[in-house]
Amino acid sequence: MQIVKKNILLNPGPATTTDSVKYAQVIPDICPREAEFGKLMDNVSTELTRLAAEAEHYTTVLFGGSGTAGVESILSSVVNDGSVLIINNGAYGKRMCEIAQTYGLNFVEFKSPPNNQIDLTALETLLQTSSCKFSHLAVVHNETTTGLLNDIEKIGKLCRKYQLDFIVDAMSSFGAIPIQMKEMNISFLGASSNKNVQGMAGIAFVIAEKGKLESLQKSKPRSYYLNLYAQYKYFAKTHQMRFTPPVQTLYALKQAIIELNKEGIMGRYERYAKSWETLITGLERLRLAYLVPKKHHSKIVTAVLEPDCYGYDFNQMHDYFYHKGFTIYPGKIESLKTFRIANIGDINYKDMEAFLELLEKYLINIGYFSRKGHDQ
Ligand SMILES: Cc1ncc(COP(=O)(O)O)c(C=O)c1O
Repeated sequence: MQIVKKNILLNPGPATTTDSVKYAQVIPDICPREAEFGKLMDNVSTELTRLAAEAEHYTTVLFGGSGTAGVESILSSVVNDGSVLIINNGAYGKRMCEIAQTYGLNFVEFKSPPNNQIDLTALETLLQTSSCKFSHLAVVHNETTTGLLNDIEKIGKLCRKYQLDFIVDAMSSFGAIPIQMKEMNISFLGASSNKNVQGMAGIAFVIAEKGKLESLQKSKPRSYYLNLYAQYKYFAKTHQMRFTPPVQTLYALKQAIIELNKEGIMGRYERYAKSWETLITGLERLRLAYLVPKKHHSKIVTAVLEPDCYGYDFNQMHDYFYHKGFTIYPGKIESLKTFRIANIGDINYKDMEAFLELLEKYLINIGYFSRKGHDQ
């Protein structure tokens, strides 16, 4: 197997993949309607389910599409007569509100600060006092805008108390942070192939309680392609997706799941957390501030406040790193100037050390330390 040039992707997905995942895509051509391919998708679906729930009562519905397709499929399919309460503490919570708006759903937005815990008392008060008849509550687990980790265990308990179906966008937590859907009372979870699972981009998936999926039978579809019930039923009957699947991406996903099972979700999180600790120690040494306090941090993606320095320009910094094999990512918070560094994918703390060395050189070059002072 020829080694492929390794780029260190510090964007929050698609993440750096192993060569074995890349090469898993090189297979003889196959028609995806063949039983052999159906078996592969069945395996992928079951294995994804097992990462968060038991496969007897939960299942995974696969879609060709980016992660948003999974979240959009959930929201457009499951909210019917009632209203959905959507927690917005970052760009991806906001996106769920935009999806709800697009489909004309009854929804209420619960806004929460991007750098601090959700006020669960205020959330509960809203549930008690709102004139809306809530049937669902939706939240992003790891808000990728900032790295703020929302407490889905506690929110799941609230959902149980108020008999709401709980929707979790676990796009940037799934595969690294343990999730137990039953214990956490999650009915629908959306994620994708290309973040902590470390597969290729192109597959969105929804893990859901089978009983909840069955109960959608009588709902009027709002979307043709993203109809969650239709996709679920068709797959259960035929072991096929309704429309052409991303064939090679699914082979890569199968390999990525094998590698995830080998490392274990906890093992993966430990590796990620070590890279994150390295990053944070380095940022502190370089006198750069980050947004979310340690105790609420996912340790997966970090929003760093941009250096307060005349010579700083994000695009120039991006290009400086890009030419050296590191990809960094712009910020997404409206109110603050940040850039983002993720520590997911097939990288480790040594890559983070190499990144920090370059960052230090960049900051010296732009004159950042001439005002701040610098501990060498
Ligand atoms: C929490 C969260 N939700 C949704 C998405 C959207 O995923 P995609 O860009 O694959 O559509 C992302 C992507 O970063 C995300 O982090």
